[in-house]
Amino acid sequence: MTPNPALHLLNRIRPDPALHFRLADPSDVTNLYDIRQAAIRQLSLTHLSKREAVDWAERGGIPRVEQAIAKDEVWVATLGRQVVGWIHRAANSIEGLYVSPPAARQGVGTALVGLAESHIVQRGHPLVVLESSLNAVGFYRRLGYAPAGIQCSSAAVAMSKHLEASQAMALTSTMTSPANAGHIPP
Ligand SMILES: CC(C)(COP(=O)(O)OP(=O)(O)OC[C@H]1O[C@@H](n2cnc3c(N)ncnc32)[C@H](O)[C@@H]1OP(=O)(O)O)[C@@H](O)C(=O)NCCC(=O)NCCS
Repeated sequence: MTPNPALHLLNRIRPDPALHFRLADPSDVTNLYDIRQAAIRQLSLTHLSKREAVDWAERGGIPRVEQAIAKDEVWVATLGRQVVGWIHRAANSIEGLYVSPPAARQGVGTALVGLAESHIVQRGHPLVVLESSLNAVGFYRRLGYAPAGIQCSSAAVAMSKHLEASQAMALTSTMTSPANAGHIPP
């Protein structure tokens, strides 16, 4: 029997059926800030020094998270009642991605990138751009991103990925809470 392509895609980007997604709101700010702090300070040390990780974690602070939610689009991933990761999208750019260390290497980051890509391609952007910290370059390469040839800084690499129109997944309603289903910000 031919596998259902939509189901296959859903399983690939949401490996744990208990993983759900919703748009962030202002009540999430502190939690998302804490996850960003923990993710950077613990998960970037494979490629960054402790000093570099702390400097990165301290750039922006709470206002950065508040602005991301207010101005752009922030999706959170939840397992049960626990928020385990989040992604910040602005137009065709992935501005930030953070996974709670206890939930790392379980496909949460991959699922959040897939979700952001689906929103980007649905809005007609053929290209996703981002600046990857050195520790995440391998993660993004595995997802089809390639260095764009620009070294943003000593600790970041510009990367991009061309999206196919076929990636415009109609998954939003299955991946969000009823309150947020169908909400597509401009
Ligand atoms: C990068 C990050 C988002 C990955 O999230 P994640 O949920 O752990 O990623 P996934 O489980 O979806 O990983 C998928 C694959 O990516 C690769 N990968 C993920 N993290 C990796 C790491 N630290 N080192 C090497 N490969 C990694 C692996 O191949 C992994 O598959 P595997 O576990 O089967 O080997 C997370 O490590 C993180 O929050 N890091 C700190 C903040 C950060 O670097 N954000 C991105 C900056 S732009």
